[in-house]
Amino acid sequence: MHWSLAFIAAGSAGIGATAGRRRLLLSQAKHRSLAGHSKWSRRIAGWIPMVDYDAARFFRCDGAPEDVVAKREQGFERLAHLFAERFPRGRALTAETRSGLSDLQFTGSYRVPFQFAAHVKANLGVGAFVEKSAGVTVTDIDGNDFYDLTGSYGVNLLGYDAYKGMIAEAVAQVADLGPVLGQLHPVVADNVARLRALTGLDEVSFHMSGTEAVMQAVRLARYHTRRSKVVRFCGAYHGWWGEVQPGIGNPVNADRTFTLAEMSEKALQTLATRNDIACVLINPLQSLHPNSAAPSDNTLVDGGRRAGVDREAYAEWLHRVAEVCRERGIVFILDDIFTGFRLARRGAAEYFGLQPDMVTYGKTLGGGLPNGVLVGRADLMKRYRDDRPVDICFARGTFNAHPYVMAAMNAFLRKLDAPETLALYEGLDDRWNARAARMNASLEAVCVPVRVANLSSIWTVIYRVPSRFNWMLQYYLREEGLLLSWVGTGRLIFSLNYSDADFDEVVTRFTRACERMAANGWWWHAPDATNKTIRRGILRELIAKRFGR
Ligand SMILES: Cc1ncc(COP(=O)(O)O)c(C=O)c1O
Repeated sequence: MHWSLAFIAAGSAGIGATAGRRRLLLSQAKHRSLAGHSKWSRRIAGWIPMVDYDAARFFRCDGAPEDVVAKREQGFERLAHLFAERFPRGRALTAETRSGLSDLQFTGSYRVPFQFAAHVKANLGVGAFVEKSAGVTVTDIDGNDFYDLTGSYGVNLLGYDAYKGMIAEAVAQVADLGPVLGQLHPVVADNVARLRALTGLDEVSFHMSGTEAVMQAVRLARYHTRRSKVVRFCGAYHGWWGEVQPGIGNPVNADRTFTLAEMSEKALQTLATRNDIACVLINPLQSLHPNSAAPSDNTLVDGGRRAGVDREAYAEWLHRVAEVCRERGIVFILDDIFTGFRLARRGAAEYFGLQPDMVTYGKTLGGGLPNGVLVGRADLMKRYRDDRPVDICFARGTFNAHPYVMAAMNAFLRKLDAPETLALYEGLDDRWNARAARMNASLEAVCVPVRVANLSSIWTVIYRVPSRFNWMLQYYLREEGLLLSWVGTGRLIFSLNYSDADFDEVVTRFTRACERMAANGWWWHAPDATNKTIRRGILRELIAKRFGR
């Protein structure tokens, strides 16, 4: 009796020590930033009170002298008048629709850091409605043309006219069948064959969004490995499903998700030593800003945005992750929803030289229509067990393999093989790197504290001064007829049909916008200001508000 108790005690102490070590390793494998600590980031988010600058504080929050404040006020007022004149119908329709459209309320409130949002919203409204696209431009309902730098969240790879053509072709192709669901239009067979050939993987499943494709990949990985934990890397976006989006934005804990640091030995050790990890999700876009969330102007509280691709180092990191996954039976899922077909014809697998177990696609693959696609190894894609007939992995969706989507996807896949598309892929990376260099040379020439960093045709704007107003640039760009998505200068996405002439025009306008912003005093900063002092100042302000001081 005594002996067996001692044995159990010793055994559980051993288990405890091992479990303790594993927990320690896991906590060391997290990135030190808040983005690496989902629960903490949510807790802190819940603590932060609203601080809403009035007009006076708005322009002086960094202690600028009155002559600089006057320039800012004049610049702001000029933009406010200009926008009121240029966007009357767009602003009126946006105001009318806002109260009934939740998404508009959200994106309208989160374009800039929250302290500035109310004053900006009241004065720099731009209107959300557009009615035409052609070439690389989009026209709003007031008739203003904009160069499109939104890329429609990455969907627009080949230019809007190409997608209009693909959708028209698709509608004609399936017109006789119409929206019949459950049965398959023959075009589906061709899509399957093309996706298999393109990826070298065995099976395909069709979904209606990228989020759903990721859900299915993770569910299958759990089913086949009989393990529950999912690894994502710090900052990586994989859609808005709770399990892959722990932290701010998700009201509940995602306890079966580990968020590990990228480029981290401890993360590799964690993968190598745990037995409960089903899969690892990779978003190749992280190569532009490892361990950071997608940059957005609403978090641009200072000049601390960092970005830049080291393709070789990132490729090596991904190879090491893939190797550990192979050794440990962890499913390596490449989430190529954003980067697929954009970095290279065969996507990030080709760009970084990977052979994933599963790949998720979406966005541009649908030829302009909503889609999500999962492609994977046959043993991982199987949804039932031969020896346990009732132990299945369920996945359905009313609109999966919708004939119109399938036909538009087919048009896209066929277009991939067209000589003009193949030509686009030749020297793609060099072309976009050269364009980024051209933009940076132009910005440097006029001495503005702004540069761009890029992963091929996906760009972000970085700032070289510790200013609280870097986010203002999005409004000067709007003045110049450059259209950004609601994340502002955090992400510019170019379609590959940008000619050199189009691009040069963007450079000219972008540079002019920066010069105007500089002239209006927004980049003034105290000589001893740093990004750190700005953050500390903001924290002090929040604490004072929280505790009513
Ligand atoms: C890498 C990645 N995965 C998943 C998703 C989710 O796709 P969707 O918005 O179609 O649900 C996105 C969307 O931006 C993405 O970029």
